[in-house]
Amino acid sequence: MAVALQAPAQNTQDAKMNTFVSNLMKRMTLEEKIGQLNLLTPGGGVATGAVVSKDVESKIRSGSVGGLFGVIGVDKIRQAQELAMNQSRLKIPLLFGSDIIHGYKTTFPIPLGLSCSWDIPLIERSARVAAKEATADGLVWAFSPMVDIARDPRWGRVAEGAGEDPYLGSEVAKAMVRGYQGRNLAADSTLLACVKHFALYGAAEGGRDYNTVDMSRLRMFEYYLPPYKAAINAGVASVMSSFNEIDGVPATGNKWLLTDLLRKQWGFKGFVVTDYTSINEMIDHGSGDLQAVSAQSLVAGVDMDMVGEGFLTTLKKSLSEGKITQKHIDDACRRILEAKYKLGLFDDPYRYTVPARATKEVLSADKRAAAREIAVRSTVLLKNNNQALPLKKSGTIALVGPLANNKSNMLGTWAVSGDPQLSIPVLEGMQKALGNSATILYAKGANITDDTAFAKKVNVFGVRADVDSLSPDALINQAVQVANRADVVVAVVGEASEMSGEAASRSDINIPQSQRNLLEALYKTGKPVVLVIMSGRPLTLERESEMATSILHVWFQGHEAGNAIADVLFGAYNPSGKLTMSFPRNVGQIPIYYNYKRTGRPQPAGPTQKFRSNYLDVSNDPLYPFGYGLSYTTFSYGNIQLSKNQMRAAEKITATVTVTNTGNYDGEEVVQLYIYDQVASVTQPVKKLKGFQKVMIPKGQSKQVSFTIGAEELKFYNSALQWVAEPGDFKVYIGTSSDNVKEASFKLVR
Ligand code: NOJ
Repeated sequence: MAVALQAPAQNTQDAKMNTFVSNLMKRMTLEEKIGQLNLLTPGGGVATGAVVSKDVESKIRSGSVGGLFGVIGVDKIRQAQELAMNQSRLKIPLLFGSDIIHGYKTTFPIPLGLSCSWDIPLIERSARVAAKEATADGLVWAFSPMVDIARDPRWGRVAEGAGEDPYLGSEVAKAMVRGYQGRNLAADSTLLACVKHFALYGAAEGGRDYNTVDMSRLRMFEYYLPPYKAAINAGVASVMSSFNEIDGVPATGNKWLLTDLLRKQWGFKGFVVTDYTSINEMIDHGSGDLQAVSAQSLVAGVDMDMVGEGFLTTLKKSLSEGKITQKHIDDACRRILEAKYKLGLFDDPYRYTVPARATKEVLSADKRAAAREIAVRSTVLLKNNNQALPLKKSGTIALVGPLANNKSNMLGTWAVSGDPQLSIPVLEGMQKALGNSATILYAKGANITDDTAFAKKVNVFGVRADVDSLSPDALINQAVQVANRADVVVAVVGEASEMSGEAASRSDINIPQSQRNLLEALYKTGKPVVLVIMSGRPLTLERESEMATSILHVWFQGHEAGNAIADVLFGAYNPSGKLTMSFPRNVGQIPIYYNYKRTGRPQPAGPTQKFRSNYLDVSNDPLYPFGYGLSYTTFSYGNIQLSKNQMRAAEKITATVTVTNTGNYDGEEVVQLYIYDQVASVTQPVKKLKGFQKVMIPKGQSKQVSFTIGAEELKFYNSALQWVAEPGDFKVYIGTSSDNVKEASFKLVR
């Protein structure tokens, strides 16, 4: 009934919007229409390319700008909007966008960390809170979610996504879109989301940023495209094209991608914006001169040109030469105006620039509280020998490491509006948690890196890796001294925040050598060493895993990092995170992912065998697999009960397990469901995640967890790219990690 009532109302609204936009477009000159397709950044934010826009004010006056990004603060945004409203001929309000990636001014954990919570309502809430804060400060458009599937941790931008799995990635994508956009874009606390980077950007060869991508359609549809599609289905308002090429055509100028797939096949109704100067970059790809690539991009389906001004400077000429049509320009212009209409900007261009709201919402206490709650849930416990964690709140703790008393790295990459100085360092968080109950002895112990040339590269947005005036040996000596006087050592080590993110690929994903030297020295003291590791990517941690008693992988947790880490270290929160990307043993194993194919010569369990698919010098398995993460308590899984052993495509099977908390703490567990299609017309991976539930189980208690399996869970893309379930034998796995599951079998019959 509700649905039936909604549809005509929606139609009436759309009709109203169409009339409004059509009337406006009748009054627009060709130049003004092209102006709407132009997105500029006047600088002041973080420039992610070589170019920053010039003469922005005069361009706004002449109606040559559709939107701005990198303008931060309600007053500045209001000023810019006033310029458009008072001094441009048609008074069309501007869009104001920003990279709101993990929180806005209040900064949450990096997306890769957030995804490790496997807590979809929490992830939605993080986007909701960010939208509330950002819209109060004048912004109406978030360049998020980034949903690029990635199997290569050398790529620095894995920090911004949800890891390697398409199912989990799709759940996260939908949650983020819901969180940003809410039910109604016209509400003053919701904004346009922008799913990016369309498409396949996470598959850059060698993990090198901006590099070439080449993959089969099957791999694309099965593993890489689902999260973008999920965002489209969730109603995402905009899509950002990626820097890479697809089938030899740069994504930004790829008509198959932006029109045939995105609009015709998937039914996308919003607008497409390019990534930063990606139209211009097609010249370097080898696609032609600026006029040619601009025309190609418009015709391919781009609506808005980010920073490059190729549209602004060449489309008129291309139109007169018949290289594009008026309809191409009109369609793009209409889509931008529609977005502005949906936000309510034509009703009131100042609805998002109310200073009193900014004062109330920006950096408010409730947002800090949310940041702490979200941060604790992104922590992954990788190892915990002898239950060394949680730490007792007594005795003497040596706290060492270059990230232990550091504010500048807590936010992680892509926190363009977050002030690092508002971060809580780990030392402060631990001191607050302990009061006078225990003694903390602090020593820095090492530089993040001793390599000054490397440090310079990661210090582009401010100093993240400083090189101490004390020598590396002197720093280590200080740390060893405090370790010798302590009962336990907590070493906070890892990457600087800008060692991941855009243009931050690494060929070596170890903890930098300076810190590894520190860890060797600490290990020699014989004291138990608890590692707290910060990074924006999976690292290679074989040696660290041998030496450490316990390891907490905390990613970058945002403003509340210190408090959140103390909450977990002392047991105020029992960690429940699970990895969303595999941790390789060494870089030679990359690409590494849990949903691999068996091959014709699979390596059997046990020692490596000749003429099998393996390496001479390392096992095939990762050090820590997808889905892995410990708790302070332990969980045991009963056998899987299936409601039946055979089903038809229209039927469902229920798979149930009993999970028991067998340890000493209440805890949350992420129960994971995987499916394996044993025989199919297209070979299938050993496992595919098809469901998960995060459940709280008090100590000593059990919970039954059930999953419903229907044909949808059994489908795959066949050679004709049809989404099909083929009859045959399936395995169902349920467990605590991709490599630790119970197993049952059933048949799909005709
Ligand atoms: C380039 C990045 O690839 C993209 O993710 C970001 O949104 C834009 N720069 C704008 O900052």
